[in-house]
Amino acid sequence: MLRVGIVGAGRIGAVRARVAAAHPECQVVAVSDLDGARAAALAATHGAAVTADWSALVADPDVDVVVVATTHDALAPVSLAALRHGKHVLCEKPMGRHADEARELAVAAAAAGTCLKAGYNHRYHPAVQAVQRACREGVLGPLLTVRGRYGHGGRPGYEREWRADPARGGGGELLDQGAHLIDLALWLLGDFAAVTGFVDTLFWNMEVEDNAFGLFRTEAGQVASVQVSWTQWRNLFSLEVHGRDGYAVASGLGGSYGPETAVVGRRPPGGGVPTEECRSFAAEDRSWELEWADMLEAMATGGAPLADGWQAVRTLEWVGRLYRAAAEDRVVTRSEAPARGYCRR
Ligand SMILES: NC(=O)c1ccc[n+]([C@@H]2O[C@H](COP(=O)([O-])OP(=O)(O)OC[C@H]3O[C@@H](n4cnc5c(N)ncnc54)[C@H](O)[C@@H]3O)[C@@H](O)[C@H]2O)c1
Repeated sequence: MLRVGIVGAGRIGAVRARVAAAHPECQVVAVSDLDGARAAALAATHGAAVTADWSALVADPDVDVVVVATTHDALAPVSLAALRHGKHVLCEKPMGRHADEARELAVAAAAAGTCLKAGYNHRYHPAVQAVQRACREGVLGPLLTVRGRYGHGGRPGYEREWRADPARGGGGELLDQGAHLIDLALWLLGDFAAVTGFVDTLFWNMEVEDNAFGLFRTEAGQVASVQVSWTQWRNLFSLEVHGRDGYAVASGLGGSYGPETAVVGRRPPGGGVPTEECRSFAAEDRSWELEWADMLEAMATGGAPLADGWQAVRTLEWVGRLYRAAAEDRVVTRSEAPARGYCRR
């Protein structure tokens, strides 16, 4: 049995704990949170112990894997300590407030020889996987463009939550949901060469951005446009890819983001209406289970899971370059250093 410790017993910590506990080879043994009542409630659900101080949990010889699902300011320090104690770590996205924090984790995991995975669960959504498969198998021909849109409308008091606080969040919506889209665009296109865009606070009374618009270009000239928003009053997730011969679209994530569907279309060589293959997926979100299974396999084989530590570093580098491009009103290239998290124009 693999013994799992959870640091951060909020919304996602609870999801991760449920998934780990449901796995036949895993047992949740310890939970830690700054909020003792939260930790106690989650620990009680799984028959685990409460560890008041996370540094004791990550040092515990009876813990094999640590899941870190805290606010962004604690992701890196907790994960780093766990890696230095030789633990495998599943660290929630974005794996730190900026690329420098994330890089320290990737280096520590390499030194420890343990598995470090970033919690980019969207890679395991079936519609996203269908899009990636169509790209990988060449159904769309050479890829030309990617367009990602993601957002929600917050809730009353959102401006007082930790995501609105630059010290705890590290940034706003670009770092939060934007990191998912940038991770997916990098997965589909490979690395980018340059980025430009706008990062703005348009509605909420908060210091960090509530909207971000990024345009990324690869060396080969492919373009990814990414728009994320906390003024998307009706929740939205959409990922589109266009290639020479066709297109693929993933929409919805289930729940409040609407039913999850995938469409793969082929352009008739002679023009006219494309032929489409449409699939819809059950409302239940199984991405978390699939992601956990990928993590366990990587631990067992010594291979790399999807969205490993180094890939999370690269994603945060592009988040940081977009912050910089927006603050300095220009195009920022791969040779330039990213901003260390959110920065104002
Ligand atoms: N993969 C996804 O789709 C997805 C979705 C939402 C959130 N997330 C990520 O999950 C993480 C947590 O988000 P959430 O929505 O669960 O937030 P949340 O506010 O519900 O929970 C965060 C918890 O971390 C605790 N915490 C903060 N600092 C701590 C510390 N030093 N030690 C112990 N506990 C600490 C807080 O007390 C809180 O209970 C973030 O990194 C977020 O970006 C991922």
